Order: sequence, then structure tokens, then C-alpha cells
Amino acid sequence: MTHTRPSLGAVQETLLIPLYGRAAEHRKPEPALRDPRAVELVAAIDYDFSRFDELPSLTGSVLRTLLFDFWTRDFLGRHPAGTVVEIGTGLNTRYERVDNERAIWFDLDLPDVIELRRAFFRDTPRRRMLAASVTEESWLRVVGEQSGGPCFFSAEAVLPFLDEADVRRVIERIAAAFPGSWLALDSNLPRLIEAQDEHDALSKVEARLRWGCADIGVIADWVPGSRVIGSHTMTTLPPDVRDALPAPSRRMLDELTRRQLPQVEGYHMHLIQLP
Ligand SMILES: C[S@@+](CC[C@H](N)C(=O)[O-])C[C@H]1O[C@@H](n2cnc3c(N)ncnc32)[C@H](O)[C@@H]1O
Repeated sequence: MTHTRPSLGAVQETLLIPLYGRAAEHRKPEPALRDPRAVELVAAIDYDFSRFDELPSLTGSVLRTLLFDFWTRDFLGRHPAGTVVEIGTGLNTRYERVDNERAIWFDLDLPDVIELRRAFFRDTPRRRMLAASVTEESWLRVVGEQSGGPCFFSAEAVLPFLDEADVRRVIERIAAAFPGSWLALDSNLPRLIEAQDEHDALSKVEARLRWGCADIGVIADWVPGSRVIGSHTMTTLPPDVRDALPAPSRRMLDELTRRQLPQVEGYHMHLIQLP
């Protein structure tokens, strides 16, 4: 097999963590998620993934992806011809798991990530890659020109890498350009940002988180009229997500719930309805 050697900036390298998480999960006897594409990509990329072997964060990234998949399916169930924008898509394979053959999809990431992504994925009439920073304005115009219906913006493990001022600007711009859209994102309590050098996966890479969020209600100050319609930790996943997990994953979550670990309880995933 030809190996692709990734040439990625520090924050971009973090896409390899959830990619490896999905590939490792797929290989389990009772996986919480199947992702044969992730297995292929890991095999094709020349990178020492073994540094992430057995890290608890890999399982966390899989559970997060299952929740974001669930929200995307919910959105597409209500708006089958809607638009999904994956912000900071990395080598995400949500389209492969939840596409309904009608929606429009955009995969947005920084130029070096999109170059890597193009080695494995192709644009189609309904699916297009966009090379830009989420902090730029140009991509909003492109999405606006091509999307007819309501939009779902999925920012999975992306915004915490930005400064708070940029997070705010990004959310304000999305709200102004796409009224009524949904936005899925994650956040860390400030104490997790302070302790990130001890984080199992981040301690293996150079990138560091910047945005600490004490209360997601702050988004309603930034964008009046926005509502948090879902907010979860790994131990408070919606019943539909938790009940669909295989027995080993449910046992692991029971154990996490019992232990109430600060690093688990301080990490949140949110679904926001923009006005
Ligand atoms: C931890 S990875 C998550 C990748 C993907 N969302 C997933 O869950 O598999 C973080 C991603 O955010 C992207 N990212 C970070 N800053 C960004 C920015 N300013 N604009 C666009 N993407 C960004 C990185 O390049 C990387 O692909």
C-alpha cells in the first residue's frame, strides 16, 4: 500500500487522535461504532499512531462522535434536504455513516488538512471540501450560495483550540448568516484548560486548547435568542445514544459515572439552536 506522509501543523495533527479512536473501536469484538474507512486511512497514513494506544481519550472521542452523529441524524430527519457543515472536519467520516442521499455536505478545515483529505475523499455534486480557517468569512459565503435549506454546523473538537474572541466571532457570524440553524460544539471548563498538559492525548502532541468555558449560557449573551437544546457529558449521554451502546461500553460508562472524574465531568458537548 502507498503510504501518505502527513505534513500538518500542530493543531491540525490532532485530527489523527479521533481518527485512530474510530479505527481502534472498529476492531473491537463489540464496537460502539463501525468505521472501516478509518481503519483504511490509519493503514494508509505514515504516522506513529502507537503513541495513542489504549488512551482513555480514544473511547471518549468515539462517544462524542456517536452523539454528534445522533444530532446530525436528528437534524436530517427534520430537514432531509438540509445542509451539514463539518467545521474542522479532519478525516471525519460522518457522511459515510449518516448521509441520507439528499443533504448537501461541506467539509471545512485548514488548507493542509484539506490537502491530506483530498488524498482519500473526492468532491461530489452534494459534497464539497472547503480549505479555510473557520475564523475567515469567505467560507460562509460559499455555503450560503450553495445551500438551499436549513443548516447544521458541526464543530466537533475544534472551537476549544481557538481564543474565546474567535469562538464568539465565529458563532456570531454563523448566526447572522444562517438564522435558525443548529450548531453542535464542545467545551471544557477552565480548570481543564489549566490541567491540559496532563491530558492523556494532548500530552502526546504539541497543540494546546485555548478556550475555557465556565458556562455555555454565555452564547445567549453573544447571540441573544440562541438556546441550548442539548448539553451532555460522557456520563449523561441521551438515552437513545447510551442504550444503543454495546454492553462493554455501557459497563465502562457505569464505572465512569461512579467515579465522577473531574476531567470527564468538566468536558461538555452542546447542541445550540440559533435564533
Ligand atoms: C481534534 S481534531 C477534530 C477533527 C474532526 N472534527 C473529528 O472529530 O474527527 C481538530 C480539527 O480542527 C481543525 N481546526 C483547528 N483550528 C481550525 C480553524 N481555525 N479552522 C478550521 N479548522 C480548524 C484541525 O485542523 C483539526 O482537523
